[in-house]
Amino acid sequence: MTTANIATGAYLVAALLFILSLAGLSKHESARRGVVFGIFGMTIAVAATLSLTTRSATDLAVVFIIIPIVIGAGIGLWRAKVVEMTGMPELIALLHSFVGLAAVLVGWNGFIQTNARPVAHTSEATTLLQIHHAEVFIGVFIGAVTFTGSIVAYLKLSGKMNSKPLMLPGKNILNLSALVVFAGLTAWFVIEPQMWLLVSVTVVALALGWHLVASIGGGDMPVVVSMLNSYSGWAAAASGFLLSNDLLIITGALVGSSGAYLSYIMCKAMNRSFISVIAGGFGVTTKANTDEDLGDHREVAVHDVAERLTNASSVVITPGYGMAVAQAQYPVAELVRKLRERNINVRFGIHPVAGRLPGHMNVLLAEAKVPYDVVLEMDEINDDLAETDVVLVIGANDTVNPAAAEDPASPIAGMPVLRVWEANEVIVFKRSMATGYAGVQNPLFFRENSRMLFGDAKDNVVEIVNSLS
Ligand code: TAP
Repeated sequence: MTTANIATGAYLVAALLFILSLAGLSKHESARRGVVFGIFGMTIAVAATLSLTTRSATDLAVVFIIIPIVIGAGIGLWRAKVVEMTGMPELIALLHSFVGLAAVLVGWNGFIQTNARPVAHTSEATTLLQIHHAEVFIGVFIGAVTFTGSIVAYLKLSGKMNSKPLMLPGKNILNLSALVVFAGLTAWFVIEPQMWLLVSVTVVALALGWHLVASIGGGDMPVVVSMLNSYSGWAAAASGFLLSNDLLIITGALVGSSGAYLSYIMCKAMNRSFISVIAGGFGVTTKANTDEDLGDHREVAVHDVAERLTNASSVVITPGYGMAVAQAQYPVAELVRKLRERNINVRFGIHPVAGRLPGHMNVLLAEAKVPYDVVLEMDEINDDLAETDVVLVIGANDTVNPAAAEDPASPIAGMPVLRVWEANEVIVFKRSMATGYAGVQNPLFFRENSRMLFGDAKDNVVEIVNSLS
């Protein structure tokens, strides 16, 4: 059996392992197994690709392949070890930008190499060359959009760039024009491949990627991250065609389609139009209402909260990003235990985009050993909130904002939220009156039945637990 045959077999095994990995990752209980399948698949894929490459390469070239792999793997392991859970989405966005950049470089390399090679002047060779040129152009375009789009997503998620949507005049026309220019340049490049056309499409795509993501408001970033995940998959698939690497095509298509499906699910959960996200079209007709005067808020002290809790018969806790920042999940679990000992019905209401990554709150609560059966999804708890005595909003903001349901001009209008304001009393744990991730003021804090408990969420929950003891 030749090395090429063995490598093809290995690619097939790796592709199957990637499919098993995705299937495993779709459920909490099988996620670890999914990661292990992915690690094995990738190890086999890298080994098979290396064996194919090293057949025709010199010893020095092999060293030049191994060294970056070792350095890259080292940096990857170190980053994965030190990254905070709350910093995960921005790390993922940054990694997507590498896939985009790689696709651009592979495309450019494909064009330069083909240009340097003599070509037979048969009609079949011409057709194959034209297909190759189309692949180069499309790969570079998708890669460049993914590259700058992911960089903007990284900057927004890490707070290095304002999360408010950029609203250039005629933004939709700008996006559409970029697509029309891309289509025109592609046709031109296929007929008459020239370097300046490739430079032009790279510049247009870099600008489009930047503009698409910059135009999307903070509250819609979860969808953008999964959309960029999808784009990075298609960019990888385009590189697979250029490098004639079947596994890269399969893997790219898997990532591209699963990312697109995740974006679709998230759009449904957040009541957003899928097409609108792809077109970077959020926040067009909305206003930023951070400066609006909503009246006065009322504060509450720790011992008061403890007393209200002991007098309640039903309590719902709606955690958010602040619980993750404060690492308050452990005292929160202790609080739940204490209240349940007093026969108080305590449950959690989890918003699908609470925190900074899908399932963020569920992971934190599982870490703190909160029983699964009291952790309910938003749709399961929303109708019960009107009959709840006390709701504790711990470090959540956008996900409990009544403006999403009541103010059609709000930047988060239409996003389903936890209707905590319907409860008898709402206690909001946060450090200040600052807005949440979407940068939108929250009228909940000024409602008659709301009380603010200022300070670090963990410190306050610990104090409440101590008062209950
Ligand atoms: P946010 O709206 O981000 O609000 C979190 C609140 O926590 C802030 O208002 C902050 O107020 C408070 N906080 C921060 N540190 C705290 C601490 N140590 N102690 C107490 N409070 C603290 O949270 P959310 O309701 O979970 O909403 C998530 C937002 O992130 C949504 O807009 C969502 O679209 C977006 N997003 C989600 C994801 C995914 S997939 N989940 C990904 C990217 C973006 P103070 O500063 O006043 O304390």
